[in-house]
Amino acid sequence: MQRTEKTKLKRSKNRKSSSTRWLQRQLNDPFVQEARRAGYRARSVFKLEEIDARFALIRKGEPVVDLGAAPGSWSQYAANKGARVLALDILPMDPIAGVEILEGDFLEPATQEALLARLGGKVSTVLSDIAPDATGRRLVDRLRAEAVGEAVVGFACAVLDDGGQLLIKLVKGAETAVMDMARPHFSKLRLVRPKATRSDSSETYLLASGFRAGGATVTEGPD
Ligand SMILES: C[S@@+](CC[C@H](N)C(=O)[O-])C[C@H]1O[C@@H](n2cnc3c(N)ncnc32)[C@H](O)[C@@H]1O
Repeated sequence: MQRTEKTKLKRSKNRKSSSTRWLQRQLNDPFVQEARRAGYRARSVFKLEEIDARFALIRKGEPVVDLGAAPGSWSQYAANKGARVLALDILPMDPIAGVEILEGDFLEPATQEALLARLGGKVSTVLSDIAPDATGRRLVDRLRAEAVGEAVVGFACAVLDDGGQLLIKLVKGAETAVMDMARPHFSKLRLVRPKATRSDSSETYLLASGFRAGGATVTEGPD
């Protein structure tokens, strides 16, 4: 990845010091710069790109569901590879060529029903980069991540085709409960921490492969 000269922001009395720190980090982050150069809406694209390069998640012509999709870099990436993408976020999302977009809270049953109705059939890959609002209280954040992770596993089991794959963002500590739920349905579970994950972040990704509608014998491993 190309390195550029470091930008240092001057203090401004109209900006909180936490905002200055955030802006400075964004301006000096090589993944942010590279995403902008390549026309992607977020640096998170490099997490998906790395995982896809290793485990072949996104394939031309295959249907993909992207949960927690805004601003849209994962959907852009999947559409660029020729996948058929259905994207969902609780926030509005600008259109992306080749991507169908739904707005709603994934945790609401009505939203999941709307997704199922739009899909009208099975998919090969479910992605979830959903990030519940962080409170800074570790237990609360872990429980929220578990609740989302478990809801995503339940949804994936309803929509994945045999052999399908599921990628879920979690926070450390939430893996055990979500892996317990996924274990009976997938033949391989892996925890992956891509290079673009910030060093101070507690996020980790669970990649569950080899979905079997009738249940599976699982093997597990780290990254
Ligand atoms: C880290 S961002 C996703 C970035 C995205 N993968 C990309 O590449 O542009 C997390 C997203 O999860 C969404 N989100 C959080 N809770 C949600 C929920 N209950 N239902 C749907 N989306 C949710 C947020 O609005 C946010 O856009």
